[in-house]
Amino acid sequence: MQNVRSALITGASSGIGSALAEALARPGATLHLSGRDAVRLDAVVVACRARGATVHPAIIDVRDAEAMAAWIAGAGRLDLVVANAGVSAGTIAGTPEAPETARAIFAINLDGVVNTVLPALAAMTRQPAGSDGVRGRIGAIASIAALAVTPWGPAYGASKAAVDAWIVGSGVEMRKRGVTLTSVCPGYIRTAMTAGHQFPMPGLMDADRAARIILRGIAAGRSRVVFPWWIGLATRAAGLLPTWALAAAGRLLHRDGDHP
Ligand SMILES: NC(=O)c1ccc[n+]([C@@H]2O[C@H](COP(=O)([O-])OP(=O)(O)OC[C@H]3O[C@@H](n4cnc5c(N)ncnc54)[C@H](OP(=O)(O)O)[C@@H]3O)[C@@H](O)[C@H]2O)c1
Repeated sequence: MQNVRSALITGASSGIGSALAEALARPGATLHLSGRDAVRLDAVVVACRARGATVHPAIIDVRDAEAMAAWIAGAGRLDLVVANAGVSAGTIAGTPEAPETARAIFAINLDGVVNTVLPALAAMTRQPAGSDGVRGRIGAIASIAALAVTPWGPAYGASKAAVDAWIVGSGVEMRKRGVTLTSVCPGYIRTAMTAGHQFPMPGLMDADRAARIILRGIAAGRSRVVFPWWIGLATRAAGLLPTWALAAAGRLLHRDGDHP
């Protein structure tokens, strides 16, 4: 995204977020990067500065709505905001999801995205449009898990489905106001989140490649970016199965209960 001079990314201390930051880092670019782990975030800051970017790191938990609003409001003009921070957990077959797991996942994956996107929308709708008529672009990292019910990780799938439906639905009116919204639904990406998976991960992709696909989709103003496309198709087809059949297939595929 050559025209991005200023971007803000949550969860930039690892995986997809750090790959996005490094893909955007170049002379003339200003990056606002957040995470909770100061050591890992600092390593990304150093890498982005080495590529010539001006970088402003922030240790902020996306669940802290006030801190998120203040951070985003104070960032100045933002061409791009990516609500990327998220956590994953699955249920071991036959074990119900723990209440605290469900609450934590919704708080980070859903409230955390809301805490990022609402202040970003408020800031972007007030800033002047660029030469392409766009005031700003927002991407939210959902998941392929948004496209079908996931009995092996109900809160994760539900949090991602809510993000996807909210972002795609909101995008219709926001586009008329000059802000594009893109829901990003990746399949398996090689990051800390998938590092412990013991099961086959079809279409597993490096975070750098995923970052390029994500940035291309957001730059094109697409409402939803699903990749790899064939995993998206298979997931949508699986979503048509009765829940018992989906659960049985999931047990075969995800023996430890995790998923993208
Ligand atoms: N990997 C996949 O296969 C895959 C597939 C589809 C979608 N996704 C989604 O992609 C996003 C990034 O995941 P990833 O694979 O890159 O995982 P990751 O390497 O584990 O990175 C997760 C990032 O989220 C941040 N984070 C987590 N909780 C946070 C909180 N409460 N406040 C602020 N930051 C928080 C982490 O920061 P700290 O470590 O500093 O706390 C870290 O930077 C997630 O939303 C995930 O659900 C991943």
